[in-house]
Amino acid sequence: MALLEVRNLTMKFGSLVACNDVSFDVEKGSVVGLIGPNGAGKTTLFNCVSGFYKPTSGKLIFDGRDVTNLPAYEVARLGAVRTFQVVRPLKEMTVMDNVLVGAFLRGADADTAHKVAEECLSLCRLEDKSHNLAGGLPIGYKKRLEMARALATGPNLLMLDEAMAGLTSTEIKEALEIIKGLRERGITLLVVEHIMEAIMSVADMVVVLDGGVKIAEGTPREIVEDEKVITAYLGAKFTERLKRSGEVTRND
Ligand SMILES: Nc1ncnc2c1ncn2[C@@H]1O[C@H](COP(=O)(O)OP(=O)(O)O)[C@@H](O)[C@H]1O
Ligand SMILES: [Mg+2]
Repeated sequence: MALLEVRNLTMKFGSLVACNDVSFDVEKGSVVGLIGPNGAGKTTLFNCVSGFYKPTSGKLIFDGRDVTNLPAYEVARLGAVRTFQVVRPLKEMTVMDNVLVGAFLRGADADTAHKVAEECLSLCRLEDKSHNLAGGLPIGYKKRLEMARALATGPNLLMLDEAMAGLTSTEIKEALEIIKGLRERGITLLVVEHIMEAIMSVADMVVVLDGGVKIAEGTPREIVEDEKVITAYLGAKFTERLKRSGEVTRND
């Protein structure tokens, strides 16, 4: 069953069409990768789904409910929560307090909120940083804090916008483990990512945007072999390398 249905979504900024008639489903319990070159419309799509932008036209159905015109706080309350490409923790607060803010948004009492926050910190492998000030964390940890904070709101759908950009290869591996752990807990994920090897190893399905248009949709293997995707985004050499490295799908 689809947890999120994106139907003919169009978002215009003046004459610029950032998302153009985009449709796809995100199945419950799956990890869907959203890829495409810079300016393809990925963040705009996140902003529409999460209620930060009101789409020009089209429909967004979340958990069977039309959320197209709901404001962000309502969408979050229903369980569709996103992180931001540019991380923005509450810098003067500790890591724990940042995550507590997320837990309180869910309406938890103090004891429950602490339990939830501790669980989210541990899921995101931040437990030994809980007393550090958020502003002083290196970028890899800030990205994880974004995830933990979003997680603490108790989402059904977690949308990660470039959660792995700027990370070292070790940090990317850890981030992938975290994502796999979230999926195992039944959280559905929609993930924007530029690091293809990373997307390919966690995604069940991949949607490719280019110039606001969906140019392909399929399993990671189908996507790396898609001529349109290779031309618009991946490049033939990259595809060869990816196939040789044996990292095309997590099920291989
Ligand atoms: N708030 C905005 N106002 C005007 N143009 C925007 C706005 N947000 C995004 N755009 C434009 O929409 C297009 C898609 O941007 P974006 O969704 O950020 O792409 P991506 O995340 O795939 O790199 C770009 O041309 C960008 O300049
Ligand atoms: Mg973006």
